[in-house]
Amino acid sequence: ASADLAAAFALIREIPDFPEPGVLFRDIGPLLADAAAFRTVVDALAGTVPDRVDLVVALEARGFLLGAAVGYARNLGVVAVRKPGKLPMVAHRVDYALEYGSATFELSDQIVAPGQRVVVVDDVLATGGTVRAACELVEHVGGEVAAVSVVLELAGLGGRDRLADRDVRTLLTV
Ligand code: PRP
Ligand code: HPA
Repeated sequence: ASADLAAAFALIREIPDFPEPGVLFRDIGPLLADAAAFRTVVDALAGTVPDRVDLVVALEARGFLLGAAVGYARNLGVVAVRKPGKLPMVAHRVDYALEYGSATFELSDQIVAPGQRVVVVDDVLATGGTVRAACELVEHVGGEVAAVSVVLELAGLGGRDRLADRDVRTLLTV
């Protein structure tokens, strides 16, 4: 299984100076496009989700691809945390900074119930700004973040430190 994971991770491309100069962008597109790699990584990510969780929270946009598959694999429903202007009923909005710029996330009203335990799923953990914003949204509506499950952790950008109080589970650290 770990050989399969290594083969999957070997498909990640490194693109210098994208989306801006100085950023070495890890593109997981080829991994997602490979049936065996996608299945291997989704199964491994699903395996990081704690037992007593009620819901997957998936982060736009690449987190949707993984979060939906993890929800299916673990028999959990999925909630989309979205960029602004997409959701008809918004409970809360958070502005945040990420490795290359800033953005805003919104969470739907009356989807995550108070007391529900969620796992936040995304593709890449860089500075942690994105995941932190998502956790803030979940907690604003009374949800509990049981864990954060991410495929690729970029060490050196401080994401894990900025999420020090979180149970962060990642499959590969580079
Ligand atoms: C990327 C990535 C993570 C985030 C990580 O998303 O998918 O969500 O950046 O960076 P951070 O840890 O520094 O916050 P991006 O906003 O580029 O959007 P996309 O998934 O919509 O392409
Ligand atoms: N790849 C994909 N998403 C990202 C990256 C990266 O290198 N850095 C921040 N978000």
